[in-house]
Amino acid sequence: MEFDPKRLARARHVVVFSGAGVSAQSGIPTFRDALTGLWEHFDPARLATVQAFREDPALVWGWYEWRRQKVLEAQPNAAHLTIAELARRLPRLTLITQNVDDLHERAGSLDVLHLHGSLHAPKCFACHRPFTGPLPLPSLPEQGARLEPPRCTGCNGKIRPGVVWFGEALPERMLKRAVQAARECDLLLSVGTSGLVQPAARIPHLALQQGACVVHINPQPQPCTAPGEYNLVGRAGEVLPHLLDQAFA
Ligand code: OAD
Repeated sequence: MEFDPKRLARARHVVVFSGAGVSAQSGIPTFRDALTGLWEHFDPARLATVQAFREDPALVWGWYEWRRQKVLEAQPNAAHLTIAELARRLPRLTLITQNVDDLHERAGSLDVLHLHGSLHAPKCFACHRPFTGPLPLPSLPEQGARLEPPRCTGCNGKIRPGVVWFGEALPERMLKRAVQAARECDLLLSVGTSGLVQPAARIPHLALQQGACVVHINPQPQPCTAPGEYNLVGRAGEVLPHLLDQAFA
């Protein structure tokens, strides 16, 4: 069965659940793509855990600053822009992202629920106070360049990226709002995510369980386990604008 695009135009509450694939066409590498994925080249346990930061803060800080640099140099793509446009056309849209970049905001989306934190909100590793000092655009030639983290102006602790690392809890208030939106929506667009990282990956399942329709937008077809689940196979930067055109034609 094919997804009828008119269902999007008729929906009362749409949830967009986005992952790294939505930023791929802006030149930001994903995590699990066979050739370009970050975790194909780097061990997440060495870079994205509290223990990794304790053992080698300059390695971890340098890696995240390299990623922040990539994001600052990038521009939102047609997928980000279409999601912002959808929010203007639909009665209600909740945007939940696993991404730590700010490309949704720069495309015009408001009130984005960042389940995995942000590259742009560093905080103190020791006292958790947000870091408000200057963070000049680093000029790191390559992934893997080391950089000493700045120090907290309050307690002199090391500054860490404001992202959620493996083993850490998701921001409680965001998760609560995301779960509620997934339970209440009638249509969920799952865009550019492998759906492998818990608990975020529960979000589309919650929507399905409550009777919403779930549409996966991904070049890799996703397993459809329920009658209300569909695939739109292709890159988000092409599929989403086409879907918007068809829905409101
Ligand atoms: P992944 O790298 O696991 O998955 C990216 C998905 O995007 C894959 O399913 C690709 O097929 C798809 N994709 C690639 N290019 C695309 C395009 N142009 N349009 C649409 N889809 C495309 O990324 P996430 O699912 O976001 O967590 O990963 C989830 C979490 O795993 C991340 O938030 C991060 C990572 O470890 C933490 O750092 C805690």
